[in-house]
Amino acid sequence: MVFATDGHLRRLPKVELHCHLEGSTRATTIRDLALKNGVELPVDDPEELYQFTNLNQFLDIYTIICRSLVSADDYRRITYEALEDAAAAGVRYREMFFSPGFTIQFGVPVSRIWEGIRAGLLEARQDLSIQARMILDFDKPSGPAHAVEMAEFAGSEPDRDLLIGMGADSVERGIDHAAFAPAYEVAGRYGLRRTMHAGEDGPADNIRIAIDDCGCERIDHGFRLLDDRDLTARVVERRIPVTVCPTSNVVIANVVPDVANHPFGAMRAAGVLAGLNSDDPGMMRFDLADEYPTVAEAFGYTLEQMEQISLDGIESSWAPDDEKQAMRASFAVEFDALRTEYGLPLRA
Ligand code: ADE
Ligand code: ZN
Repeated sequence: MVFATDGHLRRLPKVELHCHLEGSTRATTIRDLALKNGVELPVDDPEELYQFTNLNQFLDIYTIICRSLVSADDYRRITYEALEDAAAAGVRYREMFFSPGFTIQFGVPVSRIWEGIRAGLLEARQDLSIQARMILDFDKPSGPAHAVEMAEFAGSEPDRDLLIGMGADSVERGIDHAAFAPAYEVAGRYGLRRTMHAGEDGPADNIRIAIDDCGCERIDHGFRLLDDRDLTARVVERRIPVTVCPTSNVVIANVVPDVANHPFGAMRAAGVLAGLNSDDPGMMRFDLADEYPTVAEAFGYTLEQMEQISLDGIESSWAPDDEKQAMRASFAVEFDALRTEYGLPLRA
């Protein structure tokens, strides 16, 4: 059995499928943009805002942060910087959420938001060693009509290589998740891939609704999945990916005291296609490079197991098949190069 050092795991090539654009924003950029846009923040240093003890509190702070995002260029900048930071964390491929519900409430039209993100994405594709695509998340508390409107907007983007899917985020408690089935139907009709935050601080039944009623092909968080044995068996059998965010569940949703007690290990042992993700690396000041060694230590994973988690991210992604094949090949080369550098035997 081969175990890797912290430094080695940080440098593994990785895939990230659950990460929010707005929550990835650097505190220094929020400060710049708030100043530029005349938005008053309740603190001098935005990092001071990044203190939360539950999901609702976190989302209130998220809203304050989002007030600083006004122009298309603001969105271009945060998109580019988020991908620059991801590349530095070893992320080679990312599918990233953006959540227009947080800023359209302040009068920023979704078309302007997307114009900026699109520009940032294209710029990052030119400059950075990371491939990225976007998923539009609607805001659950804004209701089913907002969800349909967002599905229609996402469907209207002609370049399906840039905006590939629709998801849903924000709170779970008190939300009728089945009411979003019509919005997911619209998304499906446009050929958008479908995912949903479910079972984060809400019950496993929300995961079931996401899959059975809304046609979701992937589940974000799924923290409560193992509560339902039959559902778990179906998720395993259909290889429905679950984008797990262990540290986020400790520090944002506060549903588990530490990563060692997170069900991620039990999910993997049960055969769930569960991956590792950071969720909101900017606001958590904890990215995927931090998450890999944290999880390896918490569950005593070998290097092989960590490499497999990385490869499972490729399977779980919505990248085209030829791109997946190319990624598998390049990851294998990088895995072996790192093993050589750290004086470890090559993979079997
Ligand atoms: N938006 C950003 N992060 C989120 C999370 N962890 N849960 C729900 N909505 C979110
Ligand atoms: Zn999330």
